[in-house]
Amino acid sequence: MPSTNETNGAPAVPANGSLASSAPANVERKGSISGSNKVKLLKPFNTANIKILLLENINETAVTGLRNQGYQVETYAKALSEDVLIEKIRDIHCIGIRSKTKLTRKVLEAAEKLGVIGCFCIGTNQVDLEYAAQRGIAVFNSPFSNSRSVAELVIAEIVLLSRQLGDRNQEMHQGIWSKVSANCYEIRGKTLGIVGYGHIGSQLSVLAEAMGMRVRFHDVVPLMPLGTSKQVDSLNELLEISDFVTLHVPETEETKNMIGEHELNRMKKGSFLINASRGTVVHIPALAKALRSGHLGGAAVDVFPKEPAANGKFFESELIGCPNTLLTPHIGGSTEEAQSMIGIEVSQALIKFINNGTSIGAVNFPEVDLRAIRDEEENSIRLCYTHQNVPGVLRQITDILAEHNVDKQFSDSKGKIAYLMADISDVTPEQIQEIYRRVSETPTNIVTRVLY
Ligand SMILES: NC(=O)c1ccc[n+]([C@@H]2O[C@H](COP(=O)([O-])OP(=O)(O)OC[C@H]3O[C@@H](n4cnc5c(N)ncnc54)[C@H](O)[C@@H]3O)[C@@H](O)[C@H]2O)c1
Repeated sequence: MPSTNETNGAPAVPANGSLASSAPANVERKGSISGSNKVKLLKPFNTANIKILLLENINETAVTGLRNQGYQVETYAKALSEDVLIEKIRDIHCIGIRSKTKLTRKVLEAAEKLGVIGCFCIGTNQVDLEYAAQRGIAVFNSPFSNSRSVAELVIAEIVLLSRQLGDRNQEMHQGIWSKVSANCYEIRGKTLGIVGYGHIGSQLSVLAEAMGMRVRFHDVVPLMPLGTSKQVDSLNELLEISDFVTLHVPETEETKNMIGEHELNRMKKGSFLINASRGTVVHIPALAKALRSGHLGGAAVDVFPKEPAANGKFFESELIGCPNTLLTPHIGGSTEEAQSMIGIEVSQALIKFINNGTSIGAVNFPEVDLRAIRDEEENSIRLCYTHQNVPGVLRQITDILAEHNVDKQFSDSKGKIAYLMADISDVTPEQIQEIYRRVSETPTNIVTRVLY
């Protein structure tokens, strides 16, 4: 965690400074999380000194979780103006944001003690991830908390499309009574083709089978099918056998326009396409053509290549007015439950990083974890060392730790930075001070923390 002083980010007196910590001579060395738990509670600092700023009305689950740790948590319902943010960020150790707060280099440069950022959402584009990493600031998000919400929406859309419910609903709102059964179907016994069998695709597979559907899927990696679903050999095969095709792939070079005219032509006449993944995955003009020609029986689209930045009358698409076409404003994951899950998931990641140094799930930072120090390992410490990823660093660290008993150690790198965690046993408070001093004075140091 960068600090104000000149030793390349390492604070000399960290008690109420950055998250980085040296060990005072009178280190108190006891305390398990609870009587039934033998995992040692690491004491990197006085938790009441840790200041956390939560913006944009972050879910109560996160506020409670962080306060329960004893941290000072300040909350705001809205994003702050850049000037106010720059002032506020100066003194805090951790910030939680959603999509409206832009943590640019300019804003992050003002942060003197910031060690970790929580994006309580899926995307992390609003943060200068590279600059944050250079400063040793880990960024966490919550990519999978809303999988269930998306899967449920898709189930609903399968039924709605199959019964042309969108069109009937619109007609009724215009006073038109149009009772038809032609081309309206039950979904029982129909084939659902899932493209991308990850968190959402696999969850959907289970729900669809419960509705009596036959599930087939295509993925770039071989995966264990759930229930009686089956993986097929190619996307083309899936398109040809499915009554409903639903897309759940990430946005990559390979998935850009993965469903275009050629693929739509491969789909059965009268079949349906659902896209709640990313807008770039489907070639929209080709889809509009397939819908208007009647080759497809309908489509449900939640994501678009260009999405309005704010709510209001800003949406434009060639899909507007296409028959039996459900258009939704990227709400696949937008539920109260997902928000609550996001609050829990991200706050847990922040707590683990602050208290234990664990960086698993960080988007801009090497992912490192170590098995917990046990309560009986009284004189053990954990060294967390974020450093520049250049040759020779591990040799320096090994030299510093050579006289000590390193119980376990793990190191990984990502781009220009690397992160090492090492648990060292049987060290005296004086030795802790010495280890901290020598590691934090290495020329490649970005942030050194000692948890004890
Ligand atoms: N509409 C929404 O509000 C909403 C909400 C959450 C997620 N999403 C989007 O849904 C998509 C899926 O999310 P997830 O959490 O299930 O992701 P995931 O990473 O768990 O699963 C993606 C799967 O796609 C597979 N895959 C990757 N490239 C592929 C290719 N070229 N062909 C076939 N399969 C491929 C992967 O192997 C993986 O199994 C993502 O694009 C995500 O951004 C949308």
